[in-house]
Amino acid sequence: MSEAPRALITGVTGQDGSYLTELLLDRGYEVHGLVRRSATDNLQNLRPALARGVLNERLFLHFGDLREALGLHRLIQRIRPREVYNLGAQSDVALSFELPAVTTEINTVGTTLLLEAVREAAPQARFYQASSSEMFGRVRETPQRETTPFYPRSPYAASKVHGYWMTVNMRESWGLFACNGILFNHESPRRGERFVTRKIARGVADIARGRTKTLTLGNLDARRDWGYAPEYVEAMWRMLQCAEPDDYVIATGEAHSVRDFVEAAFAVVGLPWQDHVRLDERLRRPAEVDALLGDASKAKEKLGWAPTVRFEELVRRMVEGELNA
Ligand code: NAP
Ligand code: GDD
Repeated sequence: MSEAPRALITGVTGQDGSYLTELLLDRGYEVHGLVRRSATDNLQNLRPALARGVLNERLFLHFGDLREALGLHRLIQRIRPREVYNLGAQSDVALSFELPAVTTEINTVGTTLLLEAVREAAPQARFYQASSSEMFGRVRETPQRETTPFYPRSPYAASKVHGYWMTVNMRESWGLFACNGILFNHESPRRGERFVTRKIARGVADIARGRTKTLTLGNLDARRDWGYAPEYVEAMWRMLQCAEPDDYVIATGEAHSVRDFVEAAFAVVGLPWQDHVRLDERLRRPAEVDALLGDASKAKEKLGWAPTVRFEELVRRMVEGELNA
């Protein structure tokens, strides 16, 4: 192995994992990614990174799973990473109501096992935990900041609250350099297909190309603080370069409804959204998070981080991403 700084990323095949891989390769890292065995291709998001031709030179992929304690321990012992980014998760909030135990196993137990493996095998490593604005749930104040109390509204959110506190606890008990990034929703053309922004972008592109006539959605009134994923992985990296470990909210400070997103997406292709959007009660959740809005002042002050891609631009990039796919 080379003398370059080494990073381990769980969830490397996901939206954030793939962007973070590219960022770290650009900065001279040797990147190790944990990949789940799958029957069909789960390396699509990594294609741009793989196209650099550095596989098994500066980019290494290892089969594994967050629930496999010994495997995590062995991997970390072998790699001895300087930085560990825990992005792996069952990240689908709606699905977590159907799979609460699996969600808990991966997000809660998995995070605990990874932290334990770091403590045992690489205690000097810097650890990033992918915490979520979903933890604020039924919000106690607006905007939400690092000190806002949590009120999780789904099995996913509850699992992430546990991961958050395990990360804080490892820092306070064992002196691990462990940080929580409390990231608000962030999107891109690599967003998972079940999330609402990608579903809308794909639906609009399909309608514009005459492949279908309707887009079926659930709650149009929910409001989210939507940012652009490549900018959010930069914030993750900056957290681990600080002198002291800490927890940070990462957000744009601007909220829009799902209806706003729909309107803006149809505007990109010049079609009236009301002619195409249908509502289906079955897409509503047993408990909803009505509105999220983040205050990232601490990140701005301490990390020098600020978002630049705003809502309209984000929507345009996602719809164009689908039209060009
Ligand atoms: P994503 O696209 O859904 O990626 C999730 C990743 O986790 C995938 O690589 C997936 O592998 C992997 N994974 C799932 N189960 C695993 C297991 N048992 N063991 C190891 N890996 C497993 O998620 P994302 O949008 O990039 O988000 C990254 C992280 O940030 C997640 O933890 C998410 O909960 C959190 N987060 C996301 C947002 C957001 O708006 N995107 C906001 C706040 C927090 P496969 O490819 O094999 O499925
Ligand atoms: N997925 C989906 N599909 N959501 C819909 C739909 C639909 O057809 N119709 C309306 N929505 C609403 C949901 O009810 C929710 O209020 C909102 O759109 C956003 O849903 P998602 O895009 O699924 O994202 P999320 O906010 O629940 O969760 C995402 O962001 C979290 C950060 O706040 C995920 O990436 C989580 O992993 C992440 O932690």
